[in-house]
Amino acid sequence: MSTENEAGLLQPEALARAVKDAAAAIESAANLGELAAAKSATLGDKSPVSLARRAIGSIPGKERGEAGRNVNAARTEITAVYEAREEILRAAEAARVLREETLDVTARTPRRRQGARHPINVQMDRIADLFVAMGYEIGEGPEVELEWFNFDALNIHPDHPARTMMDTFHIADGEGGFGSNMVLRTHTSTVQIRTMLTQEPPIYKVAPGRVYRTDEVDATHAPVFHQTEGLVVDEGITMADLKGTLDHFAKSVFGPDAITRLRPSYFPFTEPSAEVDVWFAAHKDGARWIEWGGCGMVNPRVLRACGIDPDVYSGFAFGMGVERALMLRHGITDLRDIIDGDVRFPAGLRVEE
Ligand code: PHE
Repeated sequence: MSTENEAGLLQPEALARAVKDAAAAIESAANLGELAAAKSATLGDKSPVSLARRAIGSIPGKERGEAGRNVNAARTEITAVYEAREEILRAAEAARVLREETLDVTARTPRRRQGARHPINVQMDRIADLFVAMGYEIGEGPEVELEWFNFDALNIHPDHPARTMMDTFHIADGEGGFGSNMVLRTHTSTVQIRTMLTQEPPIYKVAPGRVYRTDEVDATHAPVFHQTEGLVVDEGITMADLKGTLDHFAKSVFGPDAITRLRPSYFPFTEPSAEVDVWFAAHKDGARWIEWGGCGMVNPRVLRACGIDPDVYSGFAFGMGVERALMLRHGITDLRDIIDGDVRFPAGLRVEE
């Protein structure tokens, strides 16, 4: 632009138009980016008011004062429009951010129920802890087991009534090696044999685990349940050791008042054998004897079959039900509550860990 034209910008009408155009440009800025562009066009170095200010030097001295005041007034007016627009656009921007980045802290989210360990597992862990504290080791065996470990090695011969009395799930005929069939173990006594075949006395073993029998599910039966097996083989072990161990075990599971009583019974792998009853003082229908499991002195035939000399060593074994004890202690009347898998059950029972 020529100096002459720039001088033309100093005319009051020209300044008035510059203000009007600038106001229109600033007002039409829809956001802060457009406003920045409008600012540089209306107030920047090449804007009409800046050019007009530069033209002041080229006019006669006596006119400069007024021209300067006019230019400044125009600039002040444009700046005021700019600041007003900027305030509006900043407020709009802040409102947009608030709206778009809002978090609804009252929104419903999918809830996760808090889980809990299953009471059966907690109970078996407590039993294991009790025996570990007495110097026992934890034993394990497979749930799909050779029939030989489940019966033959425990002195339960093929034609022995105990084989048919224990309602067994048969898995496969003759596929277990040694011509042995595969079964789901009907008791944890299999761990006795697995232990004695692989370990020299002294043996102090406890084996909590799952066992299977072909029972229909009802309030007191299930085809899968849990036992805790115990096995001790050492020099000079007597039935008094067995009784003392069971009493200690009973107090831990049923409370300090619990004692045990042995009733003569028969198991092919123990001799003598006994059923174990426990005195349960806190029973909801009054204190009474409760059947808890089986026990006995390890049959010398079984010791011998496992390569242990019965003239040097003797031992005891026991096998206790886990579910029954849990039901009695917590007043559970239906076994199905334990196995249903409803997460409210373990959470609500609050079995102390
Ligand atoms: N295994 C027996 C049962 O399940 C219980 C038992 C274990 C008996 C150990 C004697 C010794 O019925």
